[in-house]
Amino acid sequence: MLFQLSLALLGFFAKVGIVNAAPTSGFPVTTSGEAFVARDYFYVGGNYVEVGNGHIFSNQMYVEKLSPFKASQPYPLVFIHGQGQTGTNWLNKPDGGSGWASYFLDQGYVVYVIDQTERGRSAWNPSGNTTLTTYSAEIIEQRFTATRNFSLWPQASLHTQWPGSGLMGDPIFDEYYASNVEFQSNTVVQETKMQAAGAALLKKIGPAVLVSHSQGGLMPWLIGDVVPNLVKAIISIEPTGPPFIEAVFSSTSARPWGLTNIPLTYSPSPTNATAPLETQIVANNAPGLASCIIQASPARQLVNLKNIPVLLETSEASYHAVYDGCTFQFLEQAGVPVEWLKLADIGIHGNGHLHFAEKNSHEIAEVLEAWIRKTRARLGVRKISRKGIPVPKDQTSPDSPTFVPTPSELHPNFILFSRIVSNHHTLIHRAAHSYNSYPYSQYTYMYFPADANHTTPCSSDPRVCDLAYRDPKSAIRDLITSTPSLPVRQHPKPARAPIRLAAPSKNHERVYEIERAAWSSWYTTLNVRGILHPRAVPVSH
Ligand SMILES: *[C@@H]1O[C@H](CO)[C@@H](O)[C@H](O)[C@H]1NC(C)=O
Ligand SMILES: *[C@@H]1O[C@H](CO)[C@@H](O)[C@H](O)[C@H]1NC(C)=O
Ligand SMILES: *[C@@H]1O[C@H](CO)[C@@H](O)[C@H](O)[C@H]1NC(C)=O
Ligand SMILES: *[C@@H]1O[C@H](CO)[C@@H](O)[C@H](O)[C@H]1NC(C)=O
Repeated sequence: MLFQLSLALLGFFAKVGIVNAAPTSGFPVTTSGEAFVARDYFYVGGNYVEVGNGHIFSNQMYVEKLSPFKASQPYPLVFIHGQGQTGTNWLNKPDGGSGWASYFLDQGYVVYVIDQTERGRSAWNPSGNTTLTTYSAEIIEQRFTATRNFSLWPQASLHTQWPGSGLMGDPIFDEYYASNVEFQSNTVVQETKMQAAGAALLKKIGPAVLVSHSQGGLMPWLIGDVVPNLVKAIISIEPTGPPFIEAVFSSTSARPWGLTNIPLTYSPSPTNATAPLETQIVANNAPGLASCIIQASPARQLVNLKNIPVLLETSEASYHAVYDGCTFQFLEQAGVPVEWLKLADIGIHGNGHLHFAEKNSHEIAEVLEAWIRKTRARLGVRKISRKGIPVPKDQTSPDSPTFVPTPSELHPNFILFSRIVSNHHTLIHRAAHSYNSYPYSQYTYMYFPADANHTTPCSSDPRVCDLAYRDPKSAIRDLITSTPSLPVRQHPKPARAPIRLAAPSKNHERVYEIERAAWSSWYTTLNVRGILHPRAVPVSH
């Protein structure tokens, strides 16, 4: 009568290339470990303009809203991509790995991903008097992906984090370059339109944290200037700079308003519109660092940005390493509460300009997320305690090959019984992760019933798939409410370690057996209520 419940957990398919063949069901699947989300899109801003034979809509901005199953963060994030890019930057990476949007969704953030005005899905007016331009593949190789081969600035030799050769013909490079699009060639036009569209977005969605990259970094200054109360913080990853001048690839004058080409609000208010700010040069004799142009003293203050915490983030090998220090000095001098994070200072080495697409992108995301949490506390928002369950460092991530969950990590609220044997698991795991992102996010797993052949339940029972894949949130809720005897808060403490790690099979699957002593009562309850896969019979021993 004793029967051994044989359950298996997989958690090891995050890496592309070690997943099983495509699943047999028609359910959504990703090989890149993207978070499970609800997606909406809408447009903000814009207006009808008259063209030759009628009207067209112009200056609107495409916005995609990605919501985790349980949003647990007080402010959403708005991601603003850089020149030649679109919102795809934040989705999965060109090497197939999971992107920053998923990372932050898994931490409980609502994420807004835009296409800048006149870019991607935001239409450009071909009847206007502006032009579009685009970057050649050579520019991308030289500046972003294969910088070591060109050595256009001293730090380029340190670049090691781009996956693949970074050159044309390399599949990852080609995939990335294929995502590049044409862009408004007049920055004054673009800044003006993005300021309006960005403000319209925040008026619609409420206060948010802006996360910008490169040319997208012009926009948070401009948006914060017009709706300061709606910008809770700015993470500026290698923003267009330095103040007043181009650097590294050119040395022409630029950005007369210091950070931007169009006006920002300074106090005292500048009187000369062509040269609004008086400047001085701060020589920099260190190798690989640009001399800076900052304001003459006393510096005019960016009064509308003075309460917005800013994190300026710079990598080790990017051309921004040459001059982001000037942008930092400028911000500080103008009274903006800015911190400068140089990744190399905290042991993150070898990144170029495209941090979000590089091999260690999640390591960087983690640091940025920690800054948001710290900053939120400073802003006086109710601090959410993140009482996690301490586990050894190398075992903290379920994506880590050394990860071994212990019983205390298996939070009972969120356990469905199963084993999962295809890349479906990623979805399931991520869903749980999102749903219960606080406070057990690192340690939450979902289980599905195993059958003797260890096939994914989804392949044979769509009902179970529905529960699991289509709507994990309500699946879990239903599971809990429909099974009152489920020990919702109390973890059943097995007398001895209930989990044994079996030898990994050749597809890197790891199988855990969980003893009846710990789990069979749940199993029985669920089974009786018909929640489990009917074929998932316990294996007798
Ligand atoms: C064309 O450009 C000028 C200034 O460069 C601007 O004033 C005008 O509004 C533009 N026209 C259109 C249709 O965009
Ligand atoms: C590019 O640089 C890398 C690293 O220095 C080197 O291994 C590779 O051979 C170079 N490729 C070309 C085409 O020069
Ligand atoms: C504004 O500044 C420019 C550049 O320094 C200068 O040539 C011009 O005369 C100034 N205009 C006024 C009205 O002061
Ligand atoms: C396992 O697979 C075999 C062969 O495909 C099949 O006959 C058997 O019914 C399967 N067992 C279960 C429990 O699904």
